[in-house]
Amino acid sequence: MEKKDKIYEGKAKILYTTSDPDLLIQYFKDDATAFNAKKKGTIDEKGIMNNSISSKIFEYLGSNGIPTHLVKVLSEREMLVKRVTIVPVEVIIRNRAAGSLCRNYGAQEGKTLARPIFELCYKNDAFNDPLMNDDHVVALGLATEKELARIKELTHKINDLMKKFFLALNIELIDFKLEFGRYKGEIILADEISPDTCRLWEVGTGVRLDKDRFRNDLGNIKEGYQEVLKRVTGK
Ligand code: TMP
Ligand code: ASP
Repeated sequence: MEKKDKIYEGKAKILYTTSDPDLLIQYFKDDATAFNAKKKGTIDEKGIMNNSISSKIFEYLGSNGIPTHLVKVLSEREMLVKRVTIVPVEVIIRNRAAGSLCRNYGAQEGKTLARPIFELCYKNDAFNDPLMNDDHVVALGLATEKELARIKELTHKINDLMKKFFLALNIELIDFKLEFGRYKGEIILADEISPDTCRLWEVGTGVRLDKDRFRNDLGNIKEGYQEVLKRVTGK
């Protein structure tokens, strides 16, 4: 597949057009940011590891009835994906309290939540990705009521599937962020699912295996990604 023009560069990935107008190449970088890019760094080979981890998870979700943008893995850092129009909403599910839930609501880190929290944030760095509710999303025209209902339905299914997937690897899925897009009239899962976008704690020990090692200067950052990669791919 021929790589053509760069059409988007985000904090962790770059998108290129291809000779097929329906398909893009998603390239994973080593760059890491946190707290809306107030903190910046690079994690050696993160792009390679996240491409591998994301594609494994997308394949698993796809084989369990979740429509995703993944077409195929092209190289170490590149996957071929369907060209979607991204819904500019970051969708978060929390199973246990961590991160901004503790900062903003005083919840104790690690607290098991009575039920998963479905959270929506406006995907807009200029406004610091503010928290929003269903009415904001629909009233501001970011998604229709029907699209939002589909996003919610898919997100809860993905949470159930991913909790099971990681538990089999002795990892607890604490929380994660998803992005969805429109493709030929359907809502499909896009972006990535990796230790950048999930909180992953080892069962029993509570060892952090995700980007919190970078966010909170916990050390051995690359090793966290390597450990997840090893468990996810079996290599
Ligand atoms: P938070 O606790 O910082 O709000 O993060 C919740 C989850 O969402 C966590 O797994 C990390 C992920 N996340 C992203 O993937 N991108 C982001 O920009 C933010 C803020 C969080
Ligand atoms: N990726 C986000 C940023 O820089 C935040 C995060 O993942 O914590 O801003």
